[in-house]
Amino acid sequence: MRKPSSRIGTIYGIGLGPGSADLMSVRADKLIKSSSFIAFFRKAGRLGHARKIVSEILPKNVKEYAMEYPITTEISLSDPRYKKIMSSFYDECCQHLRSVINRGEDVCVLCEGDPFFYGSFMHIYERLRFEAPIEVVPAITGMSAAWTATGLPITWGDNILTILPGTLSKKELVDKISSTDAAVIMKVGQNLDKIREAIALTERKSDAFIVEFAAMSNQSVCKLVEYKKEVAPYFSIIILHGRAK
Ligand SMILES: C[S@@+](CC[C@H](N)C(=O)[O-])C[C@H]1O[C@@H](n2cnc3c(N)ncnc32)[C@H](O)[C@@H]1O
Repeated sequence: MRKPSSRIGTIYGIGLGPGSADLMSVRADKLIKSSSFIAFFRKAGRLGHARKIVSEILPKNVKEYAMEYPITTEISLSDPRYKKIMSSFYDECCQHLRSVINRGEDVCVLCEGDPFFYGSFMHIYERLRFEAPIEVVPAITGMSAAWTATGLPITWGDNILTILPGTLSKKELVDKISSTDAAVIMKVGQNLDKIREAIALTERKSDAFIVEFAAMSNQSVCKLVEYKKEVAPYFSIIILHGRAK
């Protein structure tokens, strides 16, 4: 990786995979091990999941910039204040990253899973891609680790796979699940009850699995009908497998 100089640095959006450090790509591993400046998103007061994944491989004197979300679930996504607060937060993050690359230093932005798959990094990318050198390193997604954890294949032959955020309305969930062979439902958390009801309405209740913390040390896999919690952890995914026809 380039040393600080008069040249502008590069921003690397680095996908780290779903949680286990050995599921990271060789390219991601090399970039992290030679980094001098890392940036990562986290909830205030937490270490940050992406930061945790690289704990063992970070160079000693690496500089760190924690981008702490000003809000997470305190304000609903549909509230206009949400967009405004988050937008000025991402603007601030970009301002800081600009100042780092303008002094010639490269920045590794750590991303859980794949950066271009529902990742916060995309807000940085969209703001800076026409003014700064940015490279993105793809990675294994959380959903891939989740269906692997169930021990069953997700799609066969010409099965259609639909990826759904659990934030959709119950009706949208029912409609989409009814018209697909396999489904992955992300962002389960506080949407669990609604998702349960939607799956029950499609009569696929007994097929569904919920995977918490896929590919992490505390991974757990459970049939949805046997899952007793009312709210699932942030890192949870519901899987409906496709079937061989
Ligand atoms: C903002 S999205 C980020 C997705 C990520 N970029 C990826 O490639 O998987 C966060 C959601 O992804 C899901 N997720 C990501 N990684 C996970 C994991 N290792 N185990 C379970 N769920 C995961 C959860 O549903 C979580 O609410």
